[in-house]
Amino acid sequence: MGKGGEPVRVLVTGAAGQIGYALAPMIARGLMLGPDQPVILHLLEIPPAATALEGVCMELTDAAFPLLQGVVATTDPAVACKDVDIACFIGGFPRKAGMERKDVMSKNVNIYKSIASGIEAHAKPTVKCVVVANPANTNAYILKKYAPKMDKKSITCLTRLDHNRMVGQIAERCKVPNAKVDGVIVWGNHSSTQYPDVNHGTVGSKTIREAINDDAYLNGEFMTTVQKRGAAIIAARKLSSALSAASSVCDHVRNWVVGMEGRKYVSMGVVSDGSYGITEGLVYSFPCVCKGGEWSIVQGLEIDPRSKDLMEATHKELLEEKDLALSCLEE
Ligand code: NAD
Ligand code: LMR
Repeated sequence: MGKGGEPVRVLVTGAAGQIGYALAPMIARGLMLGPDQPVILHLLEIPPAATALEGVCMELTDAAFPLLQGVVATTDPAVACKDVDIACFIGGFPRKAGMERKDVMSKNVNIYKSIASGIEAHAKPTVKCVVVANPANTNAYILKKYAPKMDKKSITCLTRLDHNRMVGQIAERCKVPNAKVDGVIVWGNHSSTQYPDVNHGTVGSKTIREAINDDAYLNGEFMTTVQKRGAAIIAARKLSSALSAASSVCDHVRNWVVGMEGRKYVSMGVVSDGSYGITEGLVYSFPCVCKGGEWSIVQGLEIDPRSKDLMEATHKELLEEKDLALSCLEE
């Protein structure tokens, strides 16, 4: 990717929305692909947001980012997907205060059914996709289902924000820099049923459980804080998280494509191969390691009975969500 200084083409759908507006400059600054990698941004919006997208383009010009070698701004999915190397699927409708995630499902899964053929037909065969729009795991599942020729390993969803939320909470509690915390795991769905698992994580040279020394907190308040953080941000901002989501998209893609930066593992929503008893084909968040631009699920972790139950609960929700999504699809 981007060999010999060639620019990498990065698609951002929903580019005039909150996350898109935060993400585009991060990519153009090198936070996604590194400080030496030129980029061309492909920005997709729907016609009602076309004028807002023009404004984003004006600002990208005005910021004069040294790495930004071009912008393709369009409302045509085929044009947007043409020859892209990386695709960040953010376009959709966000959850508002008082809405359940399931309320946004019907609108969003149909968007992912319709964009699937565009990405399959027009992107580079090596494209790497990350779905952010909610329900993220299930939208990624729909994308995969309707882009059957694409490599299953090229379609992922974002649970890195939840992973980073775990790191942030633990670092704050231990009063250490975020970089000291490693090996946390988000299992399952990007929803309140996710299982934020600290059992394999470390703070410096100690395990997280040793460093915090408060299992009641780790098994209770810590978990609910992470699981409900998205809703807490919506309640506080009256808008869903954007700067942390955009930053986490950069982390997800950079660790996948460029390298792990010394991390033990990262949480990624990926197509299950049956590991840990999770239904094959479902998009489930697992601990992953990435090498040479390929992710693989970390195998052989010891799973205690409590963890097994929590992993199963979020697995069950994803199976139900998949069935609901399929029933929401328009012919
Ligand atoms: P937003 O409403 O600010 O922006 C979404 C943009 O998508 C809008 O500009 C809209 O015009 C555009 N859009 C709608 N349909 C489209 C289509 N068919 N093609 C292209 N663009 C389209 O929303 P936001 O706050 O940026 O959030 C975007 C999505 O990300 C939401 O679904 C939100 O719930 C989700 N989200 C996920 C995570 C995560 O960790 N996975 C975190 C935060 C938000
Ligand atoms: C988040 O985790 O911040 C979002 O997914 C919340 C939401 O439902 O939009």
